[in-house]
Amino acid sequence: MSVDIDAPPPPPNRLPRHVAIVMDGNGRWAQQRSLPRTAGHREGAKAARRIVQSCDERGIEVLTLFAFSSENWHRPRPEVDILMNLFLTTLRSEIRRLDKTNVRLRFIGDPGAFSDTLRKYMIEAERRTVANDGLTLVIAANYGGRWDIAQAARRVSEAVLAGHLQPGDITVDRLHHYMCLADLPMPDLFIRTGGEQRISNFLLWQMAYTEFYFTDRLWPDYDADDLELACAAFASRQRRFGLTGEQVALSAHA
Ligand code: IPE
Ligand code: IPE
Ligand code: MG
Repeated sequence: MSVDIDAPPPPPNRLPRHVAIVMDGNGRWAQQRSLPRTAGHREGAKAARRIVQSCDERGIEVLTLFAFSSENWHRPRPEVDILMNLFLTTLRSEIRRLDKTNVRLRFIGDPGAFSDTLRKYMIEAERRTVANDGLTLVIAANYGGRWDIAQAARRVSEAVLAGHLQPGDITVDRLHHYMCLADLPMPDLFIRTGGEQRISNFLLWQMAYTEFYFTDRLWPDYDADDLELACAAFASRQRRFGLTGEQVALSAHA
């Protein structure tokens, strides 16, 4: 699938093709119950499973989940270790079901800092599901939006040095092809749970025209009804992409 980044806006009132979620609030969910933060992460993994299934049932094409940011390494070591463990065990326990339900799994982020075992499972999970044509599930792990822009800039400079490109060829469209998710539709709907209203270095480039939706619900509590609310809010918005409201209304009726 190749994507024109200046593609005209999709018609109003449609389902988002691509939903991107910052799954936030695991720690507070656990703290409210006097449990260790890690209990919140375990419940969060269950919520992720629910939402993957709900997106699949709704016919959403791509779901991108922010699982671990490049800044999350700075958390206390025991929490990082438990998150890495949970990542590996969830991958091992879920891959068969994901494959059976025709989900294509992909990872974005810098895999360099992960253990060899985890990296091996990530590669194997992508390989096993590569031909599936149901929901595309993208897991952002050791991902940062600034890292993504830097890796694209590095690769485009390599192409220039190799003589494949001239500096003058570096347009928005060209650079886009070096960014993560370049072959997928841009995120239509961004959801952040946990009450914070910030992007936290998620898909900085890709979310230039994404609709933002924030909810106080903590991620471990997030369910299909919450997703329904977010999709309804999305459907009620007019996306203008720089045009006037009248232009958009006219093109929708053309
Ligand atoms: C999100 O929940 C999970 C990760 C960042 C890995 P948090 O752990 O950030 O939960 P809060 O924000 O502390 O409640
Ligand atoms: C963003 O949540 C990263 C993930 C959900 C993986 P954080 O909890 O790390 O974000 P901040 O620190 O509140 O901005
Ligand atoms: Mg948080």
